Amino acid sequence: MYAINLNTDLILVNKDYALDKNYVPNNLVKINNNFSTKEIFICKKVKYYFEKMCNDALNNNLRIIAMSGYRDYEYQKNLYNEYLKFDKKEIVDTYSAKPGHSEHQTGLAIDVCTDKKDYIEFINTSEYIWLKDNCHKYGFIIRYNKNKENITGYKFEPWHIRYVGNSAKYIYDNNITLEEYLKIVRNL
Ligand code: DAL
Ligand code: ZN
Repeated sequence: MYAINLNTDLILVNKDYALDKNYVPNNLVKINNNFSTKEIFICKKVKYYFEKMCNDALNNNLRIIAMSGYRDYEYQKNLYNEYLKFDKKEIVDTYSAKPGHSEHQTGLAIDVCTDKKDYIEFINTSEYIWLKDNCHKYGFIIRYNKNKENITGYKFEPWHIRYVGNSAKYIYDNNITLEEYLKIVRNL
């Protein structure tokens, strides 16, 4: 099926809902160098809230940095094919989206790390402890949460945050996924 809630904070892209290979979000802008490992683009509104969150974290001596943001269809295709060189398809599908099915193509998702630890080790950092209980205040959710693999289709990714705007608080307070939230509000 084609992705729903296009061009809104609640766009749904997952294993069932896909974007066209030509879909490019509006208003892509670069994340400030202080808060990224390289040149990374995301939607303008998301940049504002992400940088605000990183600044507040910094005031607590925590350094949250983006290592991936918007990825186009071709990039995701190459990434997915690269993973297939190392893992069987059934395994790759537990941690990587197929092209067209990645939230990174929406410009609303960011993978984070710290200045000292990469995303694989992010779970063991004070930055993660802070992020998981504070990111909703800036409109973000941990998109692929613990014990939700059967709903999201992916293993727990402590580093992958998704901007959903005002809905983040409800999703956090109720420990639900975006899929469960959309079932409640849209009767999906
Ligand atoms: N790792 C997430 C699921 C992605 O590839 O978009
Ligand atoms: Zn990600």
